Amino acid sequence: MNEKTWWKESIVYQIYPRSFQDSDGDGLGDLNGITSRMEYLKQLGINVIWLSPVYESPCDDNGYDISNYREILTDFGTMEDYDRMLLKAHECGIRIVMDLVVNHTSDEHPWFVESRKSVDNPYRDFYIWREGRDRKEPNNWGSCFSGSAWQWDEETRMYYLHLFSKKQPDLNWDNPRVREEVYDMMRFWCEKGIDGFRMDVISMISKDDHFPDGEVGPDGYGDFSPYVRNGPHVHEYLKEMNREVLSKYDLLTVGECSGVTIEEAKRYASADGSELDMVFQFEHMDLDGGETFKWNDRSIDLVELKAVLSKWQGELDGKAWNSLYWCNHDQPRMLSRLGNTSPSYRETSAKMLAICLHMMQGTPYVYQGEELGMTNVRFADISQYQDIETLNMYKERLDEGYSKEEIMNSIYAKGRDNARTPMQWSGEVNAGFTKGTPWLEVNPNYTKINAESELSDPDSVFYYYQKLIRLRKEHSVFVNGEFTLLMEEDPQVFAYIRKEGDTEVLVCANFSETPAACDLLSEWKDGEVLIWNYKEKGETGVLRPYEAMMIRR
Ligand code: NOJ
Repeated sequence: MNEKTWWKESIVYQIYPRSFQDSDGDGLGDLNGITSRMEYLKQLGINVIWLSPVYESPCDDNGYDISNYREILTDFGTMEDYDRMLLKAHECGIRIVMDLVVNHTSDEHPWFVESRKSVDNPYRDFYIWREGRDRKEPNNWGSCFSGSAWQWDEETRMYYLHLFSKKQPDLNWDNPRVREEVYDMMRFWCEKGIDGFRMDVISMISKDDHFPDGEVGPDGYGDFSPYVRNGPHVHEYLKEMNREVLSKYDLLTVGECSGVTIEEAKRYASADGSELDMVFQFEHMDLDGGETFKWNDRSIDLVELKAVLSKWQGELDGKAWNSLYWCNHDQPRMLSRLGNTSPSYRETSAKMLAICLHMMQGTPYVYQGEELGMTNVRFADISQYQDIETLNMYKERLDEGYSKEEIMNSIYAKGRDNARTPMQWSGEVNAGFTKGTPWLEVNPNYTKINAESELSDPDSVFYYYQKLIRLRKEHSVFVNGEFTLLMEEDPQVFAYIRKEGDTEVLVCANFSETPAACDLLSEWKDGEVLIWNYKEKGETGVLRPYEAMMIRR
């Protein structure tokens, strides 16, 4: 099982193109902007980019609603720009993983435009159409972006299913023609020379075709999860996709699998290579509420977090493969969630979080700006927000009688725009992201937190990530070593050992602002410190606020 494969040894960097780097002053990031920053990424040391969608799209959900899978969104550039970016990435030793969004398309995709025309249109069965029930929706499911998951269509007087926005109708994967079209499109990108796919909500492509009502949640809608997540034919379809496309190219494949259990993950990411290489699981992300309670005020408990992470470490070892992530474009910044953003601890806690994540077994993912210690944002007014999920929730909760203040506090804690504010390149206007008006305002803290200042400080968060990435490449214990959690019940300290052959490495970290006792430090005092986020030795057996280190023996 410890077979060497490049995707196990890689470090992936996620780019949200809209917010990464604008090259033409229209306020939106673009492909030429990404190309211009390739050397920066090379310097960081990452070797794979996961590119959030860059395809043609009306951008109801910032590109996760695709109207043409084989064209580039004009705002982002042209196919020639894409080819240049791919070439430059490859020259820098960086591979490109594309976002494959095939649970749904845009309602402006020609398949849907055809499908809604008539019940006997050849594309009708590309989507999921149902008659109403007693003049109402076919069932009680709620969409992920508020409201019903069904949309009435006057043309043929039927409803179509959309688990996300009504502009994102779900494809009918039970139709073999849909699957063949998807595989063909995937071949198109593989032939171009891309290096993999991140598969959007791939655990949701196969639905229970009886469409039973779901258990009613706090929003008054039924939960579709049991009938949609890890649905009846999902493994059959992924095996088919693997036979038809994936097995024919050298790719990294990662499935976004909300609601995935360990048992399911072992099937999606089985070491036999019959489906995907790895999955994104959400258990650690859901500890402060999950999707149902996303907007409620809860925080992540360290003891629970350790239990979840170590369960995934142990259970997948030798059987499947983990993706390691704290952040992405759908999650608030982890530094604001679990670290400390005050000036005294921002950098120390950012480094602490990085060390804990990067040294586990799996492929680490860095989300743009994480390597700078970027934080959540607090815009004063809802008009400054752009995310469809946030805006829909705001309206829904206002109608339900929540106060503006309560709603804004939820957005500050959990809103997706926290991760989507433009990349902070420098202290210049708009953080050097654009010369125009940015599509989403820059976080005002850019004057202090930006790449330029990080690159000029040898002690910065950036160089810390660079070192972690290097260490992972140098020591195979981080890729293959067995994981053992220590101090399981300690409410402040996260400590674990990785072991491969005679090499043992200890990671220990204080997740709090108060000093924490840690006897392990005395036991390991003769070991070699490989990385550490403090400079001077402290009291023996004590970890100072957010102190973290890695020791080898
Ligand atoms: C998951 C993506 O990460 C998210 O940004 C998007 O809104 C939904 N899938 C729908 O595509």
